[in-house]
Amino acid sequence: MNTKINDYVTWVGKTDWELKKFHGDEFTTEHGSSYNAYLIRDEKTVLIDTVWLPYDREFVSNLKKEIDLKKIDYIIVQHGEVDHSGALMELMDEIPNTPIYCTANGVKYIKGQYHEDWNFNIVKTGDKLNIGKHTLTFIEAPMLHWPDTMFTYMDNEGILFSNDGFGQHLASEFLYADEVEQDKLWKEAITYYANILAPFSMMVKNKINEILKMNLEINMIYPSHGLIWRKNPEQIVKKYLEWADNYKENQVTIIYDTMWNSTRKMAEAIASGIENIDKNVTIKLMNTSKDDKTLVLTEVFKSKAIVVGSPTVNNGYLHSIAGILEMIKGMKLKNKKAVAFGSYGWSGEATKLITEELRKAGFEIINDGVKVMWTPDEEMLEQCKKLGEEIGRTCA
Ligand SMILES: Cc1cc2nc3c(=O)[nH]c(=O)nc-3n(C[C@H](O)[C@H](O)[C@H](O)COP(=O)(O)O)c2cc1C
Ligand SMILES: [Fe+2]
Ligand SMILES: [Fe+2]
Repeated sequence: MNTKINDYVTWVGKTDWELKKFHGDEFTTEHGSSYNAYLIRDEKTVLIDTVWLPYDREFVSNLKKEIDLKKIDYIIVQHGEVDHSGALMELMDEIPNTPIYCTANGVKYIKGQYHEDWNFNIVKTGDKLNIGKHTLTFIEAPMLHWPDTMFTYMDNEGILFSNDGFGQHLASEFLYADEVEQDKLWKEAITYYANILAPFSMMVKNKINEILKMNLEINMIYPSHGLIWRKNPEQIVKKYLEWADNYKENQVTIIYDTMWNSTRKMAEAIASGIENIDKNVTIKLMNTSKDDKTLVLTEVFKSKAIVVGSPTVNNGYLHSIAGILEMIKGMKLKNKKAVAFGSYGWSGEATKLITEELRKAGFEIINDGVKVMWTPDEEMLEQCKKLGEEIGRTCA
């Protein structure tokens, strides 16, 4: 339901409690999500973003309860992705001439998806739109996370509308970050960063520093997913700067898959070796055919090193490991170490192939890893433990 935030701004988005997968099957949204759209009523009326396509009719009918659509003076499209632009067709059917403000790339992407030549107005960083008591300032934010993304700053209230930046996939009956369970909030915030923004960390860092230099008074941050940062928005900005700066905790994540458990036994022996060297390091073992990939990527993001194992199968490695390696490669992580392992029966290519993929993904390779023929015996498990100890030492 629409929610009045203050005298000028009303939330007119959609809380999607049911959403369990986002971006096809790429992102598991355990706690649903929301598509936040905002209506600003000053001397001029402005709509910032819309909602995901399946909710387009619901969105427009809810918006009508708020305002006569013809009274909307400007529509701001901060990002052309369907989860925010999805209701445009439904809306523009009713008000086809209303000006749409977006970046130059925004025009291309909206046209590419909806094939309509609406009344587009291209904006750049620093461009302003006076709407009465307030002025809106546009800030282009390319690659946070698409080339078309932009933020919008509303003066006096000190609101930064940040679109996908600072968001979380978290459906809630509340509107504000300070009202929800904090552990859940921060877990969803880092999961969002790791799975969506990690490849663009350099741009995130530069953009935040650029905005800080603009000396805007930012009292609140209104993202397009999840909860609004109304108190101390600096806390999420500070976290983003940490996450964008080759983030790592004292953690090693061991990722493996196995058909008959030999590779699992190796994983456990490697873990005990790491522990022999460092009792304080957090070690996580994750089986890629059982654990959720979104959570695996978040743990990889938090790790100083990862250890990746698969048995050899048909001269290659298991598909869940192939999938996760492809996703990890896309994260473009820096300053992390890695090593491979696995059991095999006769040809045993997997360990070497995984090592190559890890190198291509930008990891510093610790050594050639360990491969074991068939089921590991005590001596082979000892070799795995030794690998763990070496990981412990190189990452200390
Ligand atoms: C369908 C299938 C294909 C396999 N292909 C290969 C192979 O190409 N080369 C090889 O060295 N071992 C191959 N193996 C043997 C496994 O690597 C071996 O059984 C290994 O110990 C399994 O480890 P796990 O217990 O971790 O699943 C294959 C096994 C299966 C079931
Ligand atoms: Fe997006
Ligand atoms: Fe989004």
